[in-house]
Amino acid sequence: MPVWDPTRYLQFADDRARPFLDLIAQIPTQPSTIVDLGCGPGHLTKHLRARWPGAEILGVDSSAEMINTAIGDNTDALANYDVADLVSWTPSRPTDLFVSNAAFQWVPDQFDVIDRLLERLTDGGTFAIQVPNNADSATHRTIDELARSDPYREQLDDVRRLPTVSPHDYLTFFAQRGLTVNAWETTYLHVLHGPDPVYEWISGTGLRPFLQALDGESRARFADDLRERLAAEFVPEEAGTVLPFRRTFAVATRA
Ligand SMILES: C[S@@+](CC[C@H](N)C(=O)[O-])C[C@H]1O[C@@H](n2cnc3c(N)ncnc32)[C@H](O)[C@@H]1O
Repeated sequence: MPVWDPTRYLQFADDRARPFLDLIAQIPTQPSTIVDLGCGPGHLTKHLRARWPGAEILGVDSSAEMINTAIGDNTDALANYDVADLVSWTPSRPTDLFVSNAAFQWVPDQFDVIDRLLERLTDGGTFAIQVPNNADSATHRTIDELARSDPYREQLDDVRRLPTVSPHDYLTFFAQRGLTVNAWETTYLHVLHGPDPVYEWISGTGLRPFLQALDGESRARFADDLRERLAAEFVPEEAGTVLPFRRTFAVATRA
């Protein structure tokens, strides 16, 4: 499991918040109990609090670094946070809303985990999820090509790649369990600025397992090689450097 750096992750906080806002805008229910699965540094809690002022909110994340930031930055949000691995975590009581933004792509066998969590979803409750669906993008293709080349191949062969999960996959999964599903995908065009902006973006998230699998010298060389390849792939335009990013969404509600 990669070690997270909340400061680096929050570098693009506004761009990363947008899909969360689009996700919760589609939630049709009025939950009293909310769990944010893989809540990260807690910068999204304020949006849950604004939408559902009276709800009990719990954020769960396996990263102690992320949870410490969430606790420190949310003293006025009246939310609770726990360090826990979603693979084995179960809420202590039934929950009206499970929401998860950009986290389940990191969870092995995610459908087994969601299935188990659904046992704790109340009648009338909602499971709302967003995951990146851009394994075929220039960013991931470039990382993958470099990781499969020498001298990195041996050390990076086992690094888990981003899974591909489409809206239809979630629609089928939730519908088979009797939930009503609203599933869709959106491609965002993030306009980035500054030096090596695409590298900066992914070094806060998807690149971390690759960098952490390498030792000091080869890590620095890999980072340099990748910056060079990404600079050739993402040429700045008038607006800035444009990073297309496709994401899968599903909002599933139990009758
Ligand atoms: C890309 S961040 C997303 C954070 C936040 N939800 C957001 O949208 O900004 C992914 C988060 O998922 C968490 N995560 C990954 N695997 C996890 C697991 N098995 N259990 C709990 N959290 C996990 C990471 O620690 C990280 O904070």
